[in-house]
Amino acid sequence: MKIPKHLAVIMDGNGRWARESGLPRIAGHYEGVKRGEELVDACIELGIRWLTLFAFSTENWKRPDFEVNALMRLLEGYLRERSHLLLEKGIRVSFIGRRDRLPKGLLMEMERVEKLRPSEEKIHVILAIDYGGRDEILRTFKKISEAGLEPTEKLFNLFSDLPEAPDPDLLIRTGGEKRISNFLLWHLAYTELYFTDTYWPDFRKEELVKALEDFSRRERRFGAILQE
Ligand code: FPP
Repeated sequence: MKIPKHLAVIMDGNGRWARESGLPRIAGHYEGVKRGEELVDACIELGIRWLTLFAFSTENWKRPDFEVNALMRLLEGYLRERSHLLLEKGIRVSFIGRRDRLPKGLLMEMERVEKLRPSEEKIHVILAIDYGGRDEILRTFKKISEAGLEPTEKLFNLFSDLPEAPDPDLLIRTGGEKRISNFLLWHLAYTELYFTDTYWPDFRKEELVKALEDFSRRERRFGAILQE
């Protein structure tokens, strides 16, 4: 099986999973966080070195206040309560997206967690919070222009939210929709896309393996032709 260096995931379907289980939407997000943690473990086992997860988009602010606040509290509580495992398991965490609209408590947790560097890094997990692909592109070009530089692809990568990560090899979206929804627009240029109807709270290791098997059968040419 081919293993992507960098896997990106749009974890969709928490709300529908909860509704269909007769639970409030937020229960789906709680379950979703558990699957997120299990996914990180599975990626470490499989040798995936970079994992980017879409946790909250620049458009998610349009949801009812109750849900937005619950999601913010969930993320903050998760970082506070589970970060002790990061160093133990060799997980480095960073965040991408805007930082100017997040609740102070969450921001403080993010800044604390970002400083934790495992001695032997097994995986670098990037959590996208208040992230939008178009917003990243605009912010990045602004930074380049403020530095008085002419934009190039190389400079864009350097000034972007993901200066160190290779472009994702594979994007998985759960929950049945077949779109990118403003995730990592620049970085997904040549990424293989995999869509599944499975709701995120039902996405377990076997589903990941299925996605990787599908990915292994893809032929990636990056615009070139295959050598005879
Ligand atoms: C989509 O479900 C999910 C989100 C809006 C992101 C929330 C994701 C989590 C809480 C998991 C985070 C994981 C970690 C490890 C931090 P939806 O509400 O859009 O579902 P729906 O489309 O069925 O309504």
